[in-house]
Amino acid sequence: MLIVDDEASVRKVMAAVFAQLGLLCETAGSGEEALRILDSHRIDAVISDLQMPGMSGMELLAKVKQIYPQMVFMMVTGVDDIRVGIQAMRQGADDYLVKPLQVDASIVLASLTRALHVKHLEQEVENYRHHLEEIVAEQTQQLREALHGIERSYDHTLEVLGAAIDLRDSPTAGHSRRVFLYSIEIAKAMGGLEKQMRNVAMGAWLHDIGKLAISDAILLKPGPLTREEREIMQRHVQIGYDMVRGIPFLTDAAEIIFAHHERCDGSGYPRGLKAAEIPVGARIFGVADTFDAMTSDRPYRRALPFKISREVIERGAGKLYDQPVANVFLNICDETWEAIRRETAAIHSFGLATASDIQALSEPVESGD
Ligand SMILES: [Fe+2]
Repeated sequence: MLIVDDEASVRKVMAAVFAQLGLLCETAGSGEEALRILDSHRIDAVISDLQMPGMSGMELLAKVKQIYPQMVFMMVTGVDDIRVGIQAMRQGADDYLVKPLQVDASIVLASLTRALHVKHLEQEVENYRHHLEEIVAEQTQQLREALHGIERSYDHTLEVLGAAIDLRDSPTAGHSRRVFLYSIEIAKAMGGLEKQMRNVAMGAWLHDIGKLAISDAILLKPGPLTREEREIMQRHVQIGYDMVRGIPFLTDAAEIIFAHHERCDGSGYPRGLKAAEIPVGARIFGVADTFDAMTSDRPYRRALPFKISREVIERGAGKLYDQPVANVFLNICDETWEAIRRETAAIHSFGLATASDIQALSEPVESGD
């Protein structure tokens, strides 16, 4: 323990008394010296005089509580200073002792033992709390991993769904994956859409999910559709929207599905939305979809060259296509689109967006939060 008193005789007597009780003592003649000793020695308890020149006992108490919150601190007061002793306890002292201490050292020892015991219990509570925090942190991590696993399962489900769409609509094989990748490229180049990236991509990936409900006779009809058939075909937008909107993590993607045939001049369907009324993901998709349709082979024509396809989008910008989206698209070089086409052709089968593609989109979003 550390005895702090400005009077050398008091320090000496107190040290002798405590030494007799079997306690190891250090002594300090001022608050400043006490802090230096605390810094370099292992001390369990401080017994400090209240009134000292320089740093007072109360000031020392405040500093010790701040630096060593677990330290036992006992304030020594004169007989007349009992109120101050109580005040010291209010400010964090564990007990106060009244001079002269040597009258009954066993009372001082009892008080000290009690204070040390209380500190010990407090420490145990603190350890327990800390342990609880560790348990909570561990379980939170497990929960996070479980959620991550669920998200991966969702992505695998989406992967299969997207493939199912392309399978039904065989002339457009690989279309879903290409517009998925094209839309990501455009959204990345636009910037500021990091948090929406996953929705933009999911909307593109699942845009024609409603076609699963359209009969083969219409969906795969080789010739042009009659007016009635076209009306039925156009229902795929509403059907897709109704299929997906109830899924909480696809709510925003559902809006893109709902608006993927809208055009900026209001000539699209089903609602005839205009410009900014159309979700940005659907505006991006509109350009990606047109570009893919033109640059892919169709049963009735060969794929058009990139240059011609770009010109068509340039001419339609501000009318069919969103002008800012079209501008961004036109600034992306052909190599980017060629690389995507090569990659999707290499996958050959049904143009899957793999679960890992979808997963990769989640990461920047999470870290951004
Ligand atoms: Fe569609």
